[in-house]
Amino acid sequence: MELQRPRGTRDFLFEEMRKRKYVEETLRRVFELYGYQEIKTPLFEDLSLFTLKSGEGIMEQIYHFQDKGGRDLALRPELTAPVARLYLNQLQKSPKPIKMYYFGSCFRYERPQAGRFRQFWQLGCELMGGKSPDAEGEVIALAAHCLEELGLEDFEIHIGNLGIIRGILNQAEVSSKLQDQVMAIIDKGEVEELRNFLEDMGLDDSYKNILLELISLQGHREVLKEVERMVGDNSQAKDALLELTGVLNVLDSVGFSNYIVNLGIARGLDYYSGTVFEIYVHGLGAQKQISGGGTYNLIELFGGEEVESTGFAFGFDRVVEALKEQGTDLPLKKVVEVFVAPISPEVRLKSFQIAGRLRKAGIPTETDLAGKKFKKLLSHANNLKAGYVVLVGPRDLEQGQVTVKDMDSGQQELVDLEDVVDVLTERIRG
Ligand code: HAM
Repeated sequence: MELQRPRGTRDFLFEEMRKRKYVEETLRRVFELYGYQEIKTPLFEDLSLFTLKSGEGIMEQIYHFQDKGGRDLALRPELTAPVARLYLNQLQKSPKPIKMYYFGSCFRYERPQAGRFRQFWQLGCELMGGKSPDAEGEVIALAAHCLEELGLEDFEIHIGNLGIIRGILNQAEVSSKLQDQVMAIIDKGEVEELRNFLEDMGLDDSYKNILLELISLQGHREVLKEVERMVGDNSQAKDALLELTGVLNVLDSVGFSNYIVNLGIARGLDYYSGTVFEIYVHGLGAQKQISGGGTYNLIELFGGEEVESTGFAFGFDRVVEALKEQGTDLPLKKVVEVFVAPISPEVRLKSFQIAGRLRKAGIPTETDLAGKKFKKLLSHANNLKAGYVVLVGPRDLEQGQVTVKDMDSGQQELVDLEDVVDVLTERIRG
């Protein structure tokens, strides 16, 4: 029997993990620049946490099971509901706003394809108790800052506000259940399906035309004028438009003006209530959405006291893929900086001693653990891409010295044993 990984999961090898670690560390650093603190929640939760209000789509994708005590549990498909639960359990009385970020794997039973997995990672944040539109503007600026810091170039931030479409639907007295269905079709981007659905609903032509026009609008700020004209005196839509304008103002003020206003953003999860945004990298093809988020009202839906909440999550795997796809050079650290090579068996312990001193000085160092012959040692150091080799030989040692070889230039120099850590630290850290 050949043992295989479960479908839709991956193993990550060394090079890939180094890239992922670099991306993770960079994103964490930027989140912390904005005052976010990390939290961790369980990998599995009560099934009901996700069935309450995450939406039909998520329901079909949930990995759920019963434990030995007969409890219905689910592997988390996302982290907003768990963070909302954590907030309700422990943070309701804490001073606001509360800024939390997380990095962890999520599970969705989806049809696997490039960029779509059954286990994937999200790095995201939730901001509880901020005020719209400032909180939303800062959250979107944070997302853009993260991608800039990673050196990603071709990404598009699409921003919308659900209140505009919902305002029209409410005016047309469409039930909230039907509204959720309309939003789900808009989220899929299926214009023809939407047209048919609205017709089958018997929606008045004037509303239908406004909706179809609204979701097709895309552009910079000038689009807002069009929207204003279309929504007329619908007060919910007007408020939403004002909020959207406020978000764009914040983004302009911090220098991220490269956004696209897109009222066709509906989001796949049902808990969103106002500002929504998605980030696309078109080079990724069908799974181009590398991030999504917005303002939501889960806390209230879970029975807590209303608190304005907004957040987003990067699809971490897709961010890593986007960097690869755009050929971004990641400044990865060397695995091994120095290889200490004993020339003959009697100096092996001395090699360990030197390696130990280098490691204590914070320099990633390897020495021979496989009893390799000297020639093989050099090619091994080469394979490891070590920047320097310290050649430890009995004759040099008699003089209290070792030879340091620069593997890039090939140059060698004799260095006093006491100085070897300082010399290499200076060369490496410069
Ligand atoms: P979401 O759009 O469902 O939002 O997921 C966030 C991101 O996770 C997506 O933009 C996508 O990049 C990535 N993603 C989703 N499914 C998969 C998959 N099967 N394989 C690989 N990547 C995937 C949420 O989950 C919300 N909780 C985001 C949020 C936070 N909203 C407010 N706060």
